[in-house]
Amino acid sequence: MSHVMNTYARQPVAFVRGEGVWLWDEEGRKYLDALAGIAVNTLGYAHPRLNSALLKRIQSGVVHTSNLFRIPDQEAAADRVAEITGLDEVFFCNSGLEATEASIKVARKYGHDRGIAEPAIVVMEKAFHGRSLATLSATGSRKVQAGFEPLVQGFVRVPLNDLEAVRQVAEHNRNIAAVMVEPIQGEGGINVARLDYLRGLKEICDRQQWLFISDEVQCGLGRTGKWFVYQHAGIKPDVVALAKGLASGVPVGACVVGNRAKGIFKPGNHGSTFGGNPLAMTAVVTTIDTVKEEKLMENAARVGNVILESLKTQLGNIVVEVRGMGLMIGVELDRPCPELVKLALDAGLVMNVTADNVIRLLPALVMNEAEARQVVERLVPLVKAFLARRAAA
Ligand SMILES: Cc1ncc(COP(=O)(O)O)c(C=O)c1O
Repeated sequence: MSHVMNTYARQPVAFVRGEGVWLWDEEGRKYLDALAGIAVNTLGYAHPRLNSALLKRIQSGVVHTSNLFRIPDQEAAADRVAEITGLDEVFFCNSGLEATEASIKVARKYGHDRGIAEPAIVVMEKAFHGRSLATLSATGSRKVQAGFEPLVQGFVRVPLNDLEAVRQVAEHNRNIAAVMVEPIQGEGGINVARLDYLRGLKEICDRQQWLFISDEVQCGLGRTGKWFVYQHAGIKPDVVALAKGLASGVPVGACVVGNRAKGIFKPGNHGSTFGGNPLAMTAVVTTIDTVKEEKLMENAARVGNVILESLKTQLGNIVVEVRGMGLMIGVELDRPCPELVKLALDAGLVMNVTADNVIRLLPALVMNEAEARQVVERLVPLVKAFLARRAAA
């Protein structure tokens, strides 16, 4: 019996080696990975640049010091994150929920600074922001919240892509300090916010002096063809939450602020023992530099389009919808399909099903076109057989 706590329904496979977008299990079976550790392994597996940078950092002996001292790697990473987000200050933490939790704290502090005694944040139905008490309270899923009540107060929920709902909140609630939105909801089922909706939301935030918080933990870092989805909409948030793909597999998170959110946190307002340590920061610097130099965003847009269009052509008439942007793709079926994950593994394909009935593809940004076509070749027959079998049953 394993002593690992039983918090995940795990697939009976263990990957022991990886290269590019390929994985090998303990028996030596090879798999095509279209999940990248849930949008984490931006550079795929065993990228030579990342491997050698991490090795060098380890060999220096300084994997960790402390935020009590200057950390040059952290300064270099913050410069890069500021440059690619277009914002000003970066707080490094270790995970997505820490990034969103910090964003919630920034919003509350901003509210208090403006004289709101009980600041509240507008959040979206079907959103996922993490599993700490505050972030699960912000999350729009009863499954995530059940059993952990009382929830943290101060969240007002509206449907995604519904500006009128936000206008109504603005009219009736004087306690709002911020809006938090995933421009593409990941866990919620690859639900894409319309770009005009994001622009409209930003306009409301500007008018009401609310903070605009973009949770790009899953959709950010180049996978949609730009560094961040808000850049497709031509807007600049006040706060951006990052994690997952930011360090290509080394645990990291970041709460990035600018505009109205700049300067809100002062010494003593927030902290993290591990956050921003030299090992993680080396991975951040190398990931960002490599995405830039190897033109991986352009690659993500092109290769993602190959997958999206092929899936639309081949499955469009039998599934509810094929949707996404770049290398963030969902295929919604008309029925729950979690068993497809195991069937895909048997066919040598690593993918995931989220929200019960949405096949989710989040490959590494290094995937090439031939590999993308193989993803489609492996996936399409599985979906067709699954739907035909269920139709016959
Ligand atoms: C949009 C979004 N925010 C926050 C989180 C939480 O990240 P973590 O699991 O690293 O705490 C996730 C994780 O899936 C996410 O997709």
